[in-house]
Amino acid sequence: MNTPHLTIALSKGRILTETLPLLAAADIHPAEDIFSSRKLIFDTNHDNIKLLVIRATDVPTYVEYGGADMGVAGKDVLMEHGGQGLYEPLDLEISRCKLMVAGMKGAQPVEGRLRVASKFVNITRDYYARLGMQVDIIKLYGAMELAPIMGLADRIVDIVDTGNTLRANGLEPLEHIAHISSRLVVGQPSMKMKFEMIQPILEKMQAAVVAKREV
Ligand code: ATP
Ligand code: PRP
Repeated sequence: MNTPHLTIALSKGRILTETLPLLAAADIHPAEDIFSSRKLIFDTNHDNIKLLVIRATDVPTYVEYGGADMGVAGKDVLMEHGGQGLYEPLDLEISRCKLMVAGMKGAQPVEGRLRVASKFVNITRDYYARLGMQVDIIKLYGAMELAPIMGLADRIVDIVDTGNTLRANGLEPLEHIAHISSRLVVGQPSMKMKFEMIQPILEKMQAAVVAKREV
């Protein structure tokens, strides 16, 4: 029987730097420097393993539709996408941050319906639905912090790490929605069909996560 092929979708940007050492722990190394290349698909030291380097928000879509067998993405992206078609077997404990509601520092209470700007519209809708609040959600693609300053929204739902971006723009964190870190996801059919190949990779990456925790 032929050895199956495995495609792993990686989020480009800040997650990638922290993902590569975990892949290396599973003896998966890109054949060339990912950071200086314009390629989107990379060979590795294994003939049958390839890496895709794509936008973070596209990773769950590739894995869900079988364009990749497994992938690495932030929990924020996975929550926004929804869990359909994906297993999430491993918390990689990298790119840690928080998903929060924020608003202008010291702002007056809002009368009437809250206007909330975010790129996470599904998370925002679910969060306020759980609170029993009807809010107007304004979809943005970045720089959410600008929306309350310009009067576009009363609140934002965004990633907060150091809090520097909020502070620099006169905003403050108000409510904590979720702790975020990056996760390894596996497509459900791939987990079934390629389990023997995926299992040892999961085990080695998990061991690397634990070892890093103990440093
Ligand atoms: P894109 O540019 O494709 O729209 P993005 O700007 O969200 O995506 P990154 O900034 O690389 O991409 O963030 C990728 C992931 O890293 C996020 O989904 C989140 O899980 C995490 N993250 C985002 N901002 C921070 C931060 N300031 N500190 C730590 N982790 C973060
Ligand atoms: C992320 C996030 C916040 C900022 C939070 O932006 O959208 O703006 O980091 O981090 P802090 O609390 O440490 O300031 P990013 O740097 O990814 O910029 P972008 O989303 O506009 O690409």
